[in-house]
Amino acid sequence: MKYLRKIGVFLLIGLMIFGMTACGSKKGNTFTGEAKGKNGTIKVEVTIDNKEIKKIKVVENHESEFTKDTFKKVIDSIIEANSADVDTVSGATLTSSAIIAAVKDAVKKSGIELTPKKSNGQASAKAENTSTDVVIIGAGGAGLTAAIQAKEDGAKVILIEKNAVVGGNTNFATGGLNAAGTKYQKEKGIKDSVDLFYKDTMKGGKNKNNPDLVKLLAEKSAETVEWLTERGADLSDVGRMGGASVNRTHRPTGGAAVGAHLVKVLDKKAKEVGVEIRTETKAIELLAEGNKVNGVKVQDAKGNKYEINAKAVILATGGFGANQDMVVSYRSELKGFGTTNGPGATGDAVKLVEKLNVELVDMKEIQSHPTVVPGKSKLITEAVRGNGAILVNRDGKRFIDELQTRDVVSKAELEQKGKTAYLIFDQNVRESLSAIEKYHKLGLLTEAKTVKELADKIKVNADELEKTVKSYNGFVQAKKDTEFQRSNMKTELNKAPYYAVEVGPAVHHTMGGLKINTDAKVITKDGKVVEGLFAAGEVTGGVHGANRLGGNAVADITTFGRIAGKNAAGLAKK
Ligand code: SIN
Repeated sequence: MKYLRKIGVFLLIGLMIFGMTACGSKKGNTFTGEAKGKNGTIKVEVTIDNKEIKKIKVVENHESEFTKDTFKKVIDSIIEANSADVDTVSGATLTSSAIIAAVKDAVKKSGIELTPKKSNGQASAKAENTSTDVVIIGAGGAGLTAAIQAKEDGAKVILIEKNAVVGGNTNFATGGLNAAGTKYQKEKGIKDSVDLFYKDTMKGGKNKNNPDLVKLLAEKSAETVEWLTERGADLSDVGRMGGASVNRTHRPTGGAAVGAHLVKVLDKKAKEVGVEIRTETKAIELLAEGNKVNGVKVQDAKGNKYEINAKAVILATGGFGANQDMVVSYRSELKGFGTTNGPGATGDAVKLVEKLNVELVDMKEIQSHPTVVPGKSKLITEAVRGNGAILVNRDGKRFIDELQTRDVVSKAELEQKGKTAYLIFDQNVRESLSAIEKYHKLGLLTEAKTVKELADKIKVNADELEKTVKSYNGFVQAKKDTEFQRSNMKTELNKAPYYAVEVGPAVHHTMGGLKINTDAKVITKDGKVVEGLFAAGEVTGGVHGANRLGGNAVADITTFGRIAGKNAAGLAKK
């Protein structure tokens, strides 16, 4: 009897332990799993019935907005396969791997053995030769803009994207879009002109820019803001980035990141107007007869190859900032540098145009962005400096006008001890720019109640940092920086809490690329137009010269995207 009672007690304890372990991860037939994504924990609830995954619900997620389609895609394929052994999503490898790992964690906790369903092995329905008016390669900001414009101008458009998600590098653009003479500037009493924008851009690019392209960019910039606004964008906040003489960087209300917002608006609009978007479709060859391009050969995710014949082709494949080998082949001193670029920025167009004798310009001009978190490749937007932050070295001292152009600030940082610096700002700056909230959420910021406490936390000389902030505040009051001649000092740094983040340079923009004319037509080495071939955005060279100004990339992709789309549609109609 005593013996039986003992067994009963053991059984009860066993059941309690099992219950306790399971209760954190199981609700009925729903099991919780988690894994670390790009920006933090991804937690999912997986409902399993009769050994089959019926539902996957994401209950915690800190990934960027543009990965929404990635979640859907991975979850759909897991449910379809009844297995978490599915492929990751190109262009969002870290996020998709984490979703897969979280589901695997839940399935493991369930103790249930799933029976994977066999794929029906059918080739993609679209993997056959087709034809259209305009085919656009690359669905980043330039490609999406060009596609909408071409479609609105009456062309039949296919937009292909090698990644599973659209947006490309535009997904990461934060600071804004430069434009001169907009209604938003006028409302705020900002005096700007096309000529001043032109001069700032030429000066920033060390006059290496193609003046005709810069002139067009400046002239069309306000119209581009109108065009985007009419299609649903909010660009009403106006701030400043390095190298600009006045506030002309347009971004969403409250200073939110511009890129993710624009991608969402443009993607929606492209679908609304009927652009056919084919993701996971990589261009492998431009089809041409002599000097006339008439389509593209592509490969889909299953490896099927087919041709899209077209009256016009637009290259919008972006730069090569994520292609270390290519970067180093032009600039060996950048070996080992991090990059702010998404994985798709691999310079694919250079290979695609090889046989067409296309002229490449300024390929050695590769920009490093000075405020990237070392080891994490997280870009801290230049708008943080534009809205008032300063840079200090390990001695707690400023060393540069923080709103100098990126090449100058990056070089100055590399001359400091440790080759990095600290971006310092206060609550005033944080409240002025909602993009900062993301950095806070990601745990990138060191926060303190006083400047002294902040200095102690980041281990810089506290007396010096206090002196630096005090004298900077004096410059703001006097509206004159006698130390580094910074002309734009938006606010005193005097509202607690105070924030710091360590930053250094990383590869950001490749100014070089395919030569184009003002019609966005691609030009050969002997000065001829390649018939039927247009290009827009970072794939091209000439707009930014030796150094791009912050806010000019988004201006470039949208303005030249519109020009390329319009001219390609015009050609298709002939
Ligand atoms: C930034 O916000 O600093 C990057 C945006 C740009 O390069 O224009």
